[in-house]
This record gives sequence, C-alpha cells and structure tokens, in this order.
Amino acid sequence: MRSNDTPQPRPGQGGSRRRALGIGTVLVAVLVAVATTVGMALPAQAATALRTLAEAKGRYFGTEMTGGDLNNASLNSIAAAQFDMLTPGNEMKWDTIERSPGVFNFGPGDQIVSFAQAHSMRVRGHNLVWHSQLPSWVSNLPLNQVQGAMQNHITNEATHYRGKIYAWDVINEPFNEDGSLRQDIFARAMGSGYLATALRAARAADPAAKLYINDFNVEGVNAKSNGLFSLAQSLLAQGAPLDGIGLESHFIVGQLPSSLLTNMQRFANLGLDVAITELDDRIPLPASSSNISRQGTDYGTVVNDCLAVARCVGVSQWGVDDGHSWIDGTFPGFGAATMYDRNFQPKPAYNASAAALGGSSTPPPPPPGSSTLVSAASGRCLDLPASNTTNGTQPVIWDCNGGANQQWAVNGQTLRVLGKCLDAPTNATAGTKVQIWDCSGATNQQWTFNASGTVSGVQSGLCLDVNGNATANGTTVILWTCTGAANQRWSRV
Ligand code: XIL
Repeated sequence: MRSNDTPQPRPGQGGSRRRALGIGTVLVAVLVAVATTVGMALPAQAATALRTLAEAKGRYFGTEMTGGDLNNASLNSIAAAQFDMLTPGNEMKWDTIERSPGVFNFGPGDQIVSFAQAHSMRVRGHNLVWHSQLPSWVSNLPLNQVQGAMQNHITNEATHYRGKIYAWDVINEPFNEDGSLRQDIFARAMGSGYLATALRAARAADPAAKLYINDFNVEGVNAKSNGLFSLAQSLLAQGAPLDGIGLESHFIVGQLPSSLLTNMQRFANLGLDVAITELDDRIPLPASSSNISRQGTDYGTVVNDCLAVARCVGVSQWGVDDGHSWIDGTFPGFGAATMYDRNFQPKPAYNASAAALGGSSTPPPPPPGSSTLVSAASGRCLDLPASNTTNGTQPVIWDCNGGANQQWAVNGQTLRVLGKCLDAPTNATAGTKVQIWDCSGATNQQWTFNASGTVSGVQSGLCLDVNGNATANGTTVILWTCTGAANQRWSRV
C-alpha cells in the first residue's frame, strides 16, 4: 500500500490506540501493507484504474491538483490510483514562480512534482507565459523590457524542471474569441513573434519536453480555433518548436462541440500532438440526475474522440472531485463538474470514461450466495462476535476463519448472517455502530455496493467504516461519511 493511501485517524478515533501500538503490531501492519500491494492490488474505484486502461490504449489519464490538495488523504489516494499525469493547478504559474523580478520560488511546484514522481505520474508543466496570474511588475514593464523578462522567466523555470516535465504549456490562452491574438503585454511588446520566441526559449531550456499552446473554446471548429490553426501553421512554417495543442475543454453539460473530433484531427494532420488538458463539464445547480447522467455521455464522447485521433496523447481532468474543482468559485450557479462527487464516489462520468477505455462500466453485481466481507485496511473479515444472534449485537472485524458467523449473504439489498440482517439503528448518524437485527427489509437494512468498494446504507447514505481506522481484532464497524479510504472498502471473497 502506498503510504498516503493510509487515511489519518479521525480525532478521538484511534489516536490513543495508535500510540499504544507495539513493534509487533507495526510489523503486522507492514506485512499486511506489503501483501496488499503484491496480492490484492488496491482496486480504488473500479476493477481496473483509468490510468491502466488509458495506458493499454497508448494514452494517459491525468488530473490537476493544487498544493492544498496534497493534504487530503482521500483525494491523494484517488489521484495516485487513477491518474498517471498530473498538472499543478497554480504552482507553476508566473505569480507563484517569480512574484518579484528575478526571485524564484519553486517550492510549491516541487511538491506537486514529488507527489507525481512518488506515484509514477508524469507532469504537465502549466504554464510559462499567460496574461493571467501574472504579477503586476511584468504587466507594468516598459515594452522594451518585456522580451528579456519573458525569456529569463522561461529559461529559469524550464531549466529548474528540466527532465521532470512531459509537456509544457508554454503559452496559455493567447487568443481572443474572434480568433485574433490577445493584446496582452507580450503581444504589445513583441507582436505575434512572442510565441516563437517563447517556444525557442523553452526548447533551449528543456529539450525533451513537448511544447504546447493551450487555450479554451478552441475544442470545436470555430473562429477562435481557426485563429489558432493559422498560427500553428505559421509557427511550423517558421520552424518554431511547437509540438502540441492543448484543448482545455471546460464544457457545459450537453454542449460539447460536435466538431471536437474533426478539430483535433486537423491539428494532428499538421504533425502536432493534441491533448485534452483541463476537462470538466459543469452542471447548473442543484445538479439533476439527468444532467449527471448526461455528463457521463459527454465524458464518454471526449474519451472516445481522443481515442479516435492517433495523435491525441491523453485526457486530463481539471481537479479530482466536485469538492475540489475551480468551477463552483468561478461560475456561480454551476458545479458538479468532475467525475467524482464530494464524497469521492465515482459518478457516471467516471464509468463512461472507463467504459470508453475498454473497462467495465458498472461495478460487478454482488455474486449470489454467501461470502466474507474483507476490509481493505486490515485484511480482516466482518464477523458476528461469538455467533451471537441476539438483536443489537454489533459486528466487528476479526481474522478470517471461514466460520458461519463471517458468511454474509446478499439477499436483494440486505446482508444476512446466521439468519439476521445487518441493520443501521434508527436515526443513525456518522459514528453510530451497526448491528444485526431481525430482517425487516426496511431501508435501514438495505446496502449498496459501490464501484469504489465502499458499502453504503440506503437510508443514511453513510458508509460501513472500521472504527477509527483501527485494524485490531474486535474493532467495531460504524457508519461514517463516505471517503473511499481503505477502512471503508470491502471485498466479497
Ligand atoms: C485556475 C485554477 O484552477 C484556479 O485555482 C485559479 O484561481 C485560476 O486558474 N484555464 C487554465 C487554468 O489554463 O490555469 C485555470 O486554473 C483554469 C482555466
């Protein structure tokens, strides 16, 4: 198990136990961790992770993270398991890297690169030259000093990250909607020549990185993408080192441009790579279930279109989950734009992406009959203590031993052991222990097996959670907000 897959104990749950752990327990934990890595392969969200499915098709599946996201264990666990390309949200932009002239701050970007390297992800560098998130000292420079400042910035940043970056967004968002060049400080100082100048500086600093122009609203064939297309032709004709075109792909649900594939193909025909660099698909709030499902269709279309274009190298989403997306703060009234909900549960967009990549689109139905329920965090089985079938007995985790008190039968949506049903007590909230009770078939006895491996209560929406992330025999099982962490994932064995 990767170290940052391990969720932190919640306050008051497991902290003191943890301090009491002896060497033997730690050793067992390490052995379980190794066994998990080798044998059971943390499944994360689906039978096969997006990154694995994408790699089988010669593509990558990426995401974006900011420095703050590095502190979120659930987010980290999904990012590492599902994605093999990482873009820093803000940490490599000019206003972070060189807030004052000649003073470089690479720390935040370095942290993102370290996370990526620790999880075998590549990095999209984002970005070197952009009119936005640009310190005022640059926009206030006399025009005859802008080229020097730009070249110095590119050289220092791309040199610092040399060898660690798969592709650089060298120029970000250079176009107006009508296809003309945005008259930002760079265009005003150097005319359209600034793009070739920037590309050449980046090539000199990091010869191995693919060099991109990245923009939004250029996904379909339209005035803006026509402007970009002409510029790409002219840059290539001049011998400027342009390798790829990034299509940001901040879509609105149900409004994908129908010419996405045609447009990608025309850039590919110039000999350029193309990439979907910042995919999200925003939905008017509150998000209706039909829009959530339509979002799945949109994601499936984007992935399928990328697969249909040989030079489309991969798809990156902007953000991991709806709770860490830029959309809600930037487009008031919109949200729910990513493939994971705020509880890190995969949405139809996830399943559609996996399906487009050749994976299974729905979680496998629970096999009929009885099976054990093995906790991913401990490898121990959900167990009815002493086979006590008295109403109110609370199941625990225990060494798997094949006993009948560890056999749980799926019957409809109920989970039965020794003739009793797994039951959430009336008015259960986060922290309530589950119990067994006479089967009534009511919704507090109904459970859903989610694609992520969690098991949630139909009535409460909360997930079966090994209390305090403890792993010892006898630890009780509670209901808790679904995080998808290992102490909430169960496999039927
Ligand atoms: C966004 C970030 O996600 C936000 O945190 C920040 O406040 C603004 O920028 N196009 C881009 C990205 O190329 O750099 C932008 O990122 C989103 C739009």
